[in-house]
Amino acid sequence: MSKAQEHQAFEGIAALSFLPMQAADLNEVLAIESVSHLHPWSRGNFTDSLAAGHWAYCIRPQVDQAIKGSYLDPTVLWAYCILFPAVDELHLLNITVSSKLRKFGLGSRIMASIESVAAQQNIPRIILEVRPSNAGAIGLYQKLGYEQIGIRKNYYPASPETSGREDAVVMAKSIKLAS
Ligand SMILES: CC(C)(COP(=O)(O)OP(=O)(O)OC[C@H]1O[C@@H](n2cnc3c(N)ncnc32)[C@H](O)[C@@H]1OP(=O)(O)O)[C@@H](O)C(=O)NCCC(=O)NCCS
Repeated sequence: MSKAQEHQAFEGIAALSFLPMQAADLNEVLAIESVSHLHPWSRGNFTDSLAAGHWAYCIRPQVDQAIKGSYLDPTVLWAYCILFPAVDELHLLNITVSSKLRKFGLGSRIMASIESVAAQQNIPRIILEVRPSNAGAIGLYQKLGYEQIGIRKNYYPASPETSGREDAVVMAKSIKLAS
């Protein structure tokens, strides 16, 4: 199966379920987080985020019949995201797709759902920070119409590519509200 065929099959095959992240999810979340970021969130960061009432979701496939041992199993964590609702802004704090499931359109589908949540909740803008070295994430956001609105100097701890701390690119997208 070519990459394009695989992509099509994967995209069409499962609806996504977004369930509130709970403490019981954290082992699975941390297994993905630890291999996905230069400076992964710790268990304490996630626990604090849940305690603070951030909107945290675990994303799993919605399938009638699980194919055990495959990714098409609703008990398998595909991705997660964490949002902080501020006044007039929904701040995306974390979005992570399981490494084997990237480049299949999941990140785009999750971002579309986040935009729907913002619209439903009458929040007119989504804002996020991203490392300038994170070409994949910047590519995703640009493709979806996010624009750079600023730089936060020395926002991130140093990465192997940078000697000192790394700036953050701040990106935002306006959300069309019902009226
Ligand atoms: C960033 C991330 C969420 C994207 O998820 P994804 O499911 O792979 O994204 P999609 O398949 O929907 O990709 C959509 C678009 O993003 C861009 N993109 C995604 N991954 C890319 C990569 N590695 N390099 C360049 N562009 C990329 C492309 O424009 C892509 O469109 P295309 O498939 O038509 O080329 C995922 O790579 C990830 O979890 N990365 C690790 C965690 C992370 O960096 N999170 C963001 C922190 S700000």
